[in-house]
Amino acid sequence: MTTKLFRAKTPIITQTKLFINNEWVEPMDGGTLDTINPATGAKIATVSTAGVRDVDRAVHAARAALETGPWGRMDAATRGNLLFKLAGLVEKHAEELAALEAFNSGKTIVDSQGDVGAVVNWLLYYGGWADKIEGKTVPVRGNFLSYTLRQPVGVVGQIIPWNFPLLMLAWKWGPALACGNSIVMKAAEQTPLTALRMCELAQEAGFPAGVINMLNGLGEVTGDAMVVHPGIDKIAFTGHVETAKIIQKRAADTLKRTTFELGGKSPNVIFADCDMEKAVDGAFHAIYFHCGQCCTAGSRLFVEKKIQKEFVERLAVKAKARKVGDPLESSTQQGPQVSQEQLDKILGYVELGNKEGAKLVVGGQRKGTEGFFVEPTIFDNVTDNMSIAKDEIFGPVVSVLPFEDFDSMLDRANRTQYGLAAGVWTKDINKAHLYAKGVKAGTVWVNCYHVVDTTTPFGGFKMSGQGRENGEAALEHYTETKTVTVNLD
Ligand code: NAI
Ligand code: MG
Repeated sequence: MTTKLFRAKTPIITQTKLFINNEWVEPMDGGTLDTINPATGAKIATVSTAGVRDVDRAVHAARAALETGPWGRMDAATRGNLLFKLAGLVEKHAEELAALEAFNSGKTIVDSQGDVGAVVNWLLYYGGWADKIEGKTVPVRGNFLSYTLRQPVGVVGQIIPWNFPLLMLAWKWGPALACGNSIVMKAAEQTPLTALRMCELAQEAGFPAGVINMLNGLGEVTGDAMVVHPGIDKIAFTGHVETAKIIQKRAADTLKRTTFELGGKSPNVIFADCDMEKAVDGAFHAIYFHCGQCCTAGSRLFVEKKIQKEFVERLAVKAKARKVGDPLESSTQQGPQVSQEQLDKILGYVELGNKEGAKLVVGGQRKGTEGFFVEPTIFDNVTDNMSIAKDEIFGPVVSVLPFEDFDSMLDRANRTQYGLAAGVWTKDINKAHLYAKGVKAGTVWVNCYHVVDTTTPFGGFKMSGQGRENGEAALEHYTETKTVTVNLD
């Protein structure tokens, strides 16, 4: 069976302003930001950005939604229904949302469609949770009745990155809304467009004014104004480790709750007793999915020495055959990196890899002269202390690290500041479980990779994050637990 090839239509951009209190407004003290098509480098839109006063306005709208608007009094099932309605609207507009995502972020149209489908799943999943978030009755000492209430944290500030613009929005809106919080979100500088479109759909779904507010702007300006604002109770952030450190320091004065989903340098381990065909495909997908712009990218590829030569050869054949090009074409397998900045960063690491003595097997060049495309790249015989083995590159560059025995491999796999994800490929279940237990990572994949579901907790050990998103675990971070004790004497 062959799938029908197509090229997605260039999408129409309907909104570029700030979305505050269910209105599209001009900034009071913000400015504008140009949005670039990463496949060409050309400007596609200019969006409004929020200044300090605009952030303040959004926070007041969000606070009012909780304290005086219908949102704070709405019953949980009705909140859930609003999420279901929004999921329905995303489904209805799936084609258009996917095209806009591909156009703005450079993600392939096929991956964008996958993300839109995932957004629907996330909204439905958390819509279902809304009326199932329960407290407990607690058997206290003495003649008292004690019970707990799970209440919203309040106004949550959500700061998201550019690699999964729609999906990161859904990961953050879903649990926040299910728990009854109101939202001030900032989309990434590079990818504001689908977030703005989602606000139109949220309004159509019937979310009351002020429940969802969307700002664009520079992290250091708009993001920072959110982080220091005393009216924001929590910051949920996805992005770079260094940004999280700044946020944690800047959030200290107001003692905000913070949750962080940060980067990684995830070890993906191939044992000689793996199913070679599946492991090659798996290792390939682990690094090259979405141009390597995944926090969970399997960028440290530990390969058992006995099969190193054959494995790397087979991986290289696939890398050379990969179709890199226009993200709107359905036959494209890899689009551009998101920005000039990311392109430069990646090429800088290729240079470092060469300089530090790794063996460049394939790729390593910019592809074409227009847009931000990079060839799928493999470095072999990488050693642990090389920069390409230590730093998050966030591009289609894999470092092959040969190993001979389990214990030293595990020790090396764990010798990193990161701990987001890990993979292992073997037919030996003992080895698989030993690795899964020993590796310091929030997610471990056995004979698969990048399988992330609405239902499973996701987050990092060590400097890959704080807290967990998805599943029931996320609800913990969007509720405050209140203990009520009643004297029965
Ligand atoms: P970043 O961490 O600077 O940006 C992520 C978000 O944080 C954006 O919305 C940005 O505007 C905001 N932000 C930046 N500085 C801020 C501040 N001081 N206060 C509040 N918000 C702030 O990441 P960037 O610069 O886009 O990418 C740099 C590197 O970060 C990438 O090469 C990659 O290694 C990593 N990264 C990791 C991601 C992940 O999924 N874990 C996603 C994006 C980037
Ligand atoms: Mg940055």
